[in-house]
Amino acid sequence: MKKFTLLYILALTACLPAVFAQSSSLAESGVAVFYPADFDSINTLPSLAIIKDLPKRDSLPGDWAIKPEFVTQDGKTSVHFDLNANIDLYGTGEVIGDLRRNGADVTLWNTDNYEYGKFDGKQLYQAHPWVLGVRPDGSAFGILADNSWRQEIRLDVGVDIISEGPAFRVIVIEKNSPQEVMKSLADLTGKMEMPPLWALGYQQSRYSYFPDTNVKELADGFRSRNIPADVIWMDIDYMDGFRVFTFDPEGFPDPKSLNDYLHAQDFKSVYMIDPGVKQDSLYSVYQEGSAGNHWVLDSLGKEYNGEVWPGQVAFPDYTRPETQKWWASLYTDFMNLGIDGVWNDMNEPAVFDGPGGSMPDHNIHRGGGDLPKDIHLRYHNVYGLLMVRSSREGIIDVNPDKRPFVLSRANYIGGQRYAATWTGDNSATWDNLKMSIPMSINLSLSGQPFNGPDIGGFTKSPSADLFGNWIALGAYYPFSRNHTSNETEPQEPWAFGEEIENVARTAINRRYRLLPYLYTLFHEAATTGMPIMRPTFFADIEDENLREEQQSFLLGENLLIIPRWAEDVQMPEGDWQQIPFEETDDTYQAIVKLRDGAIVPMGPVIQSTEDYSTAKMTLLINTDENGHATGSLYDDAGEGFEYQNGEFAELKFTAKQKGNKKVNVKIEQVAGAQKAAREFRIALVKDNQIIYSDWSSDDELTLKF
Ligand code: NOJ
Repeated sequence: MKKFTLLYILALTACLPAVFAQSSSLAESGVAVFYPADFDSINTLPSLAIIKDLPKRDSLPGDWAIKPEFVTQDGKTSVHFDLNANIDLYGTGEVIGDLRRNGADVTLWNTDNYEYGKFDGKQLYQAHPWVLGVRPDGSAFGILADNSWRQEIRLDVGVDIISEGPAFRVIVIEKNSPQEVMKSLADLTGKMEMPPLWALGYQQSRYSYFPDTNVKELADGFRSRNIPADVIWMDIDYMDGFRVFTFDPEGFPDPKSLNDYLHAQDFKSVYMIDPGVKQDSLYSVYQEGSAGNHWVLDSLGKEYNGEVWPGQVAFPDYTRPETQKWWASLYTDFMNLGIDGVWNDMNEPAVFDGPGGSMPDHNIHRGGGDLPKDIHLRYHNVYGLLMVRSSREGIIDVNPDKRPFVLSRANYIGGQRYAATWTGDNSATWDNLKMSIPMSINLSLSGQPFNGPDIGGFTKSPSADLFGNWIALGAYYPFSRNHTSNETEPQEPWAFGEEIENVARTAINRRYRLLPYLYTLFHEAATTGMPIMRPTFFADIEDENLREEQQSFLLGENLLIIPRWAEDVQMPEGDWQQIPFEETDDTYQAIVKLRDGAIVPMGPVIQSTEDYSTAKMTLLINTDENGHATGSLYDDAGEGFEYQNGEFAELKFTAKQKGNKKVNVKIEQVAGAQKAAREFRIALVKDNQIIYSDWSSDDELTLKF
């Protein structure tokens, strides 16, 4: 939002009495919807965030605490929540800065923000009109402004959301804990679907590996060095003159055989597709798009063109059902070349010569189906979401038995339904490395569990030391991909000499060993909406000392990840035991601590998820003060949809320590029809040591020590 507009709104807000919500209703237990007096459903609904009906059912309980005040003036709406100063605020989507958001302001206007350098970094690639509040007693609430127009969230005095659009509804979730708020948010906005297992592996990217022989060498490089990896990424240079859905005839003459080569080496390939289609009358995608009338129009109703990588391009109007179908259909021949996943970039949309780096506010999206025709100001923040929705449909149409994988730079709240995300063009600086933790946590606390930054940094070249620290942490991001720009030094794990190569191998080995646990967390996220990467304060929501802890983070409920550089980390109470992995490297490797009372299943080192198996698993156990511990495992084929027909197994582990010398562990399959023979061993973590039992295929294991 432009400064003068904001001042204008604030001035008006100051001299007008607040208009209280005209109506409110309890849609379900703990979920209230507030409608301003002049609620404009036509220009704010259907919601692209909320996937659930929110019936006007009951009136609010008399003690409902979080209520908005709406003010509408000149077609612009703001909403204010008075909050006690002792409430800690989080969320607000993809943001830089501290984990605790109190005092922050963010503009929700998806922006190609190289090095987070524009607008003081307060306006990035995604829009999440969402604030999570946590009270001193651990009870929590969430505020969702249900509209996609350009807006600003200010957290100076309470919460203010100031939109440039018409009067919108606000949803308030009120629960006993932030965890319950997260589940309720996912219930309203949808969950990430189970990704293919390979997407949890380590991934290698650069702008751009070129030509195809270079890609093959890269794959060989991982395998010959025994550094586990699953995915190689193809950035824009594989295309013919940056024309999407084409291949450079010299650099990538035979993408099918390249993909076959990668598959034979147990790699998957992900290729970039941008929204802008080169304005070139000889190019079939442009010809088809023009014939089908698929482009976003300017305010005069003519095809809008702007500059991106290929020069002048036209932009598909994804609000049109016909355009969505057409765009989806473009993936047929493309995916049939053996491509495994798709990377949708530049979809804010970025326009080099457009106002503010995007298209004009008054461009026209024609809509259709439930979406009305409207100007870009309304659809800008959902352009990326609509694009990835359509990409995902296209991908699944081609391979209906495979789980689609799409990575998107731009998105909107609820967009976790369609795509994973990375945090755009960061830099190889210590500051960016440290910031990546609160950044990924706040995205996670805004409903997007599958995210991570470019490991090593996108711009600039990291020193060996910085890269070593980054990869040692990056092995634990939900999305773990090393990516760098076209102007930087090589950034592969072996590019920094032997010491750092070993650091990278050790860190990535640990990720692969923890895959049974990580996959179980992805399943939890896909079924309940709980984030994978969580703030440390989730370990004890009443401990206010943890509320600003942003150097460490929780991976699920049971592991606490503490980067080696972290100082004065606020630890949750309890006997968190550091896992003494076999490989010793205390300079770089993140410290991984196991919660007391937890059991974490761990597998062997493998070179890619092709070799993943739960046939032999080590159960890391840290018993609590009563000698108890529990844990679980989710397992399925890692691909396809048979798990939806019961082809999965959910195992529960229960440990009891008897006296000082014996631990018993019971293993039960509590859900799923998958039958698999498995062997386990106990690994009791105590005083910086691991005590192992023998391997056994029984349902009850015993360790005597
Ligand atoms: C911008 C993206 O953020 C970056 O990751 C990518 O490498 C370049 N576009 C080139 O496609």
